[in-house]
Amino acid sequence: MVSEQVGSGVAVVTGAGSGIGEAIARRAAARGMGVALADVAADRIDAIARELTDAGHDVIAVPTDVTDPASVEALADAAYERFGQVSLLANNAGVESLGNLWEIAPQEWDRLTSVNIDGVFHAIRAFVPRMGADPRPSHVVNTTSVGGIGTTPGMGAYAVSKHGAQAMTECLYLECAGAFPQITVSAFVPAQVSTRIFEDLAPDENTGDAVEYWRSELREKGMTPDQAAGIFFDGVDRKDFWIITHPESFERLAGRRSRLLAGALAPDAA
Ligand SMILES: NC(=O)c1ccc[n+]([C@@H]2O[C@H](COP(=O)([O-])OP(=O)(O)OC[C@H]3O[C@@H](n4cnc5c(N)ncnc54)[C@H](O)[C@@H]3O)[C@@H](O)[C@H]2O)c1
Repeated sequence: MVSEQVGSGVAVVTGAGSGIGEAIARRAAARGMGVALADVAADRIDAIARELTDAGHDVIAVPTDVTDPASVEALADAAYERFGQVSLLANNAGVESLGNLWEIAPQEWDRLTSVNIDGVFHAIRAFVPRMGADPRPSHVVNTTSVGGIGTTPGMGAYAVSKHGAQAMTECLYLECAGAFPQITVSAFVPAQVSTRIFEDLAPDENTGDAVEYWRSELREKGMTPDQAAGIFFDGVDRKDFWIITHPESFERLAGRRSRLLAGALAPDAA
């Protein structure tokens, strides 16, 4: 059942300049929502906003760096000033990283964790108190990953960041249930979606083959961003906590993790 309030309300989408975030923003506009497109890639969100505005949609582009709390606060100010409410916050901006943990430069670690963990945290701080002050129903959806359910060698920094985002989402769910019951909280858990996420990852001497492998995996096996966004909104409409693009991958990884934890097993024995 489509929620009237969310369906006709206002969406703020981070990482809206590409891939899954762009597709969520386009679907939100098509549902009649006002949309604030946020991305560090100002040129891309400007172009998408121009196109959607020309097609009669009510959208704004707000260049935003989710790693900067002041920038995310300014995004919230812009969204509330323009639309007066936020009914769907999609914390979706994210980046990838590859390489064994000991090969990752500290700057690369900081880049990854500051977008994938801190970015979600800054948006929770900037938006949730304002959404909580509004008695109308609203929804926070954090894009985590199957990388936040399982653990994969060579993808340790990303796994850490997405386990962090997943834990943050579960805590937020419990906290909102107590403080702001009108706010629904969900984890959107994609597996392979064909986006630019690995195209934007510069290979180095340790990761060249892995970058090439993941680029072709997503190109050849990934679902389209629009398919992922469709699953996203199906889950939003149902108010599901878990919104999962690839249930079979999720079940395999979640089953493995449950066996590991329940049996206190080593990671390769589950
Ligand atoms: N594509 C997949 O297979 C897949 C799988 C699991 C999870 N995810 C997650 O989905 C989300 C979207 O990724 P995508 O695949 O669409 O990638 P994408 O690279 O196509 O889009 C990510 C967007 O985030 C933006 N971004 C990066 N750093 C930012 C910052 N500091 N501030 C604001 N915006 C920033 C980028 O400019 C880009 O437009 C990410 O959180 C990613 O981890 C993707």
